[in-house]
Amino acid sequence: MIAENKLAVQALQWTGKSLKVLDQRQLPQLITYDEYEHAAGVAEAIRSMRVRGAPAIGIAAAYGVVLSAQQHFQASPATWHSLVQADIQLLAASRPTAVNLFWALDLMRQTLETVEQQTVEALTALAVQIHQDDLAANLRMGELGAEVLGNAKGVLTHCNAGALATGGYGTALGVIRSAYQRGLRNVFAGETRPWLQGARLTVWELAQDGIAATLIADSAAAWLMRTGAIDWVVVGADRIALNGDAANKIGTYSLAVLAKQHGVKVMVVAPTSTIDWSMPSGEQIEIEQRAASELLPECYQHETSLVSAWNPVFDVTPANLIDAIVTERGVVLNPALQGIGSLRQ
Ligand code: MRU
Repeated sequence: MIAENKLAVQALQWTGKSLKVLDQRQLPQLITYDEYEHAAGVAEAIRSMRVRGAPAIGIAAAYGVVLSAQQHFQASPATWHSLVQADIQLLAASRPTAVNLFWALDLMRQTLETVEQQTVEALTALAVQIHQDDLAANLRMGELGAEVLGNAKGVLTHCNAGALATGGYGTALGVIRSAYQRGLRNVFAGETRPWLQGARLTVWELAQDGIAATLIADSAAAWLMRTGAIDWVVVGADRIALNGDAANKIGTYSLAVLAKQHGVKVMVVAPTSTIDWSMPSGEQIEIEQRAASELLPECYQHETSLVSAWNPVFDVTPANLIDAIVTERGVVLNPALQGIGSLRQ
């Protein structure tokens, strides 16, 4: 039984006929849900980052396929399969880096192609299962990760890898939630420029659970480590390659380099749906570039401006800078040495 407070923040709510998406662009000022009845709307919600975070966009996309199936099965009985396939393409084009999106869409596509009777019901059951499994994975990873942290005196997290980014409880924030119950008190969050997932989402989400967190400017991380206040950096991931390299929010790689210098350890927490078994190393991971307007002050956003912006929103941390990868199937310590093959089923 999951305690009610573990589900206080819900990024996604499935009604059976529509998907309600908490608009994360408005947090923490406004808590407002947008309701979608079509796959195209869900694809736009992912692209525009109303819903964000690797597992959450996979779950949202799965529900998007259900909405597509519900719509086209009734309206176009002869061609509904191909219309749903087109919506799957649309959803897949929404963001490139998080593999959970493609993982969830592949599962949905397989069901569409193989289940001949009551296909819409089967797609619905699968999307709900993907959602529930993610929550269960997070609860498990929370315990496993907290065990690894032991009596850590402090941790720093980056971006938002919490309930907002998942089916609930969170990956990195799930570990922090579980560790908090075991006595961890010093939780730091980097603000995570330019989108400010840390400042707008992470510290807010933790506060909903009564967990006090201290916000730092991203550029304060080295100095924080120098003070000795933290012994772990705990982050999520968008895609983990076979060799243990992990793509995550831009700035994660910087933190891992700094951690090495200061004797701080790095923990990556992600469900196995974040592992891309087809990708030999992080070198092949596509890094999303987002609009310059997300970074540039408004005064430079005109055609004749000489100021431009380079806005990669993820980076890849090499496995040799990672001390632990925590998944629902277990923990791999020193992934560069151990490899992650033990996590394969
Ligand atoms: O651009 P975002 O906000 O979707 O990036 C999210 C992250 O990088 C998270 O750390 C990652 O998806 C893990 S979420 C459990």
